[in-house]
Amino acid sequence: MTTQEDFLPINGTDYVEFYVGNAKQAAFYYQTAFGFQPLAYAGLETGLKDRTSYVLVQDKIRFVFTSSLIPESEIAMHAMKHGDGVKVVALWVDDARKSWKETTERGAVSYMEPKIEQDSNGEVVLSGIHTYGETVHIFVERKNYKGPFLPGYVAWNPEYRTKDAGLRYVDHMVGNVGWNEMNTWVNFYAETMGFKQLVSFDDKDISTEYTALMSKVMSNGNGRIKFPINEPAEGKKRSQVEEYLDFYGNSGVQHVAMATDNILHTVSELRRRGIEFLTVPGSYYDTVLNRVGSIDEEILQLRDLGILVDRDDEGYLLQIFTKPVEDRPTVFYEIIQRKGAKSFGKGNFQALFEAIELEQEKRGTL
Ligand code: FE2
Repeated sequence: MTTQEDFLPINGTDYVEFYVGNAKQAAFYYQTAFGFQPLAYAGLETGLKDRTSYVLVQDKIRFVFTSSLIPESEIAMHAMKHGDGVKVVALWVDDARKSWKETTERGAVSYMEPKIEQDSNGEVVLSGIHTYGETVHIFVERKNYKGPFLPGYVAWNPEYRTKDAGLRYVDHMVGNVGWNEMNTWVNFYAETMGFKQLVSFDDKDISTEYTALMSKVMSNGNGRIKFPINEPAEGKKRSQVEEYLDFYGNSGVQHVAMATDNILHTVSELRRRGIEFLTVPGSYYDTVLNRVGSIDEEILQLRDLGILVDRDDEGYLLQIFTKPVEDRPTVFYEIIQRKGAKSFGKGNFQALFEAIELEQEKRGTL
């Protein structure tokens, strides 16, 4: 048997960049509420004229918040059309030129031709391709760079610091795409990036009386990158994916799942700091152990914090979802702790959908 060589080896998620209305305040929110640490800054003081970026880090997770300093720029237009949202899902590679060549030759549309950026800390090679909506992937080759983030950024050392919340790495990032577009984007990841499909859910798996969605999970060769892709499915009322598409105005990133080694600690900390989570009915905990069997955690503690449990053939997982973190009902976060399980919590979808519908009902968007 011959194994095909991975034409797009990826070491992991390099960073996620959000285009926002006010990067300074967004950075403060992620420091204060999620426990991110200040890493780097670029703006007027570093010679930029049109934008400001704050870079935050928590273990392996790097978030960049960028806002426009001028009225008519790509960043300003993005924020106006979509609200605060993810523009860049950057992937850490060993060869950004090859990554660009392999993907564009297979049909990906170029966003940025390979270019070298340098400063006194060395050089990086960057390149990029378009994916769904206005979202892009940037390939980052940083083996010859020693600076805090990327050339052009300076270390950001504010006096204000918060304690981290135990968030460790990006587990997966979910894209919501338009009606009947799921397979288009599944094929895009398969053909241009060599990803494979992990699991599939059809609308019978994920539906309530009113709403439905369909989802397929795409993963790269070493499994470090996992991109579930959702599309809305026909139901009696407006589904959460449809609501997202209406408010985001396009396909885009729906949620970023961040992993922790101690979800009880992380979620207690996040709740204390004001993060709001979806809550399932208390009755969920009456029957959950029948479904998942024995677990290490105290069920009462999980119930107090609203943490959900699911099991697959390889183990179990604990997870919880925040409410949207901006005014529009668009981007939210998942906090996940894996104890062997490699799946995504399918057993919780029913309870979650009902919880989301309760929120939609309050917003008048169901
Ligand atoms: Fe998820």
